[in-house]
Amino acid sequence: MGKVIIACDFAGRQETLSFLEQFGEERPFVKIGMELFYAEGPDIVRTLKGRGHPIFLDLKLHDIPNTVKKAMRVLSSLDTDIVNLHAAGTRAMMEAALEGLTRPDGTRPLCIAVTQLTSTDQTALEGELGIHLPMEEAVLSYAENARRAGLDGVVCSPLEAGAVHARCGAGFLCVTPGIRFADGDRGDQKRVMTPREARRIGSDYIVVGRPITASADPLAAYLRCLREFEGEEA
Ligand code: C5P
Repeated sequence: MGKVIIACDFAGRQETLSFLEQFGEERPFVKIGMELFYAEGPDIVRTLKGRGHPIFLDLKLHDIPNTVKKAMRVLSSLDTDIVNLHAAGTRAMMEAALEGLTRPDGTRPLCIAVTQLTSTDQTALEGELGIHLPMEEAVLSYAENARRAGLDGVVCSPLEAGAVHARCGAGFLCVTPGIRFADGDRGDQKRVMTPREARRIGSDYIVVGRPITASADPLAAYLRCLREFEGEEA
């Protein structure tokens, strides 16, 4: 399974399918976020999975443990490969999520946690969330909670991946957005890395949106990401 995940940040089914048609026989790993899922419902997951795409369902669950457990039970029937939740929901919530996610045959998708959103800065962390820790410590402490709850990894900035692995172990997955080609447009992402740099620092999967979705040749851009991230020369 390829470890370059394309963020399908599209408004609807037709746009998503037309985009993916450009990939021919390739079946890239795709991320379905809130916008597409809320617009199209679980059917979009079934459709893309049915066409052979591995799926990261990025719904970032955060509620009381019982509600998250029941929601994860519903998602467990969708045959996704990765799902996620907010580590801020506490270890009890994350443990309940894993219970709900585990199918009767004992299998389950990977489950990873959002630590601190990259849109939250140090001022908001302290002034609004009341967390009086440097951002990196706050991220590591949430990652540690996720690991103790039994989760498989976290979504984090590639800049944090090294520290997360040092704290939580090399096998704890770091899934990292904020990827740009060295010669590409940064868009609204402030702290970015190339696929090759992300691999060097220890990202296990990269999530790439606009460098592929807004490219004139999305397949070529995807293959370039694969080469840089998974290729032998990296
Ligand atoms: O287009 P771009 O490559 O910036 O897309 C990155 C994807 O990763 C988007 O779907 C964005 O919502 C997601 N993401 C992010 N930063 C986070 C968490 C998720 O960019 N901290």
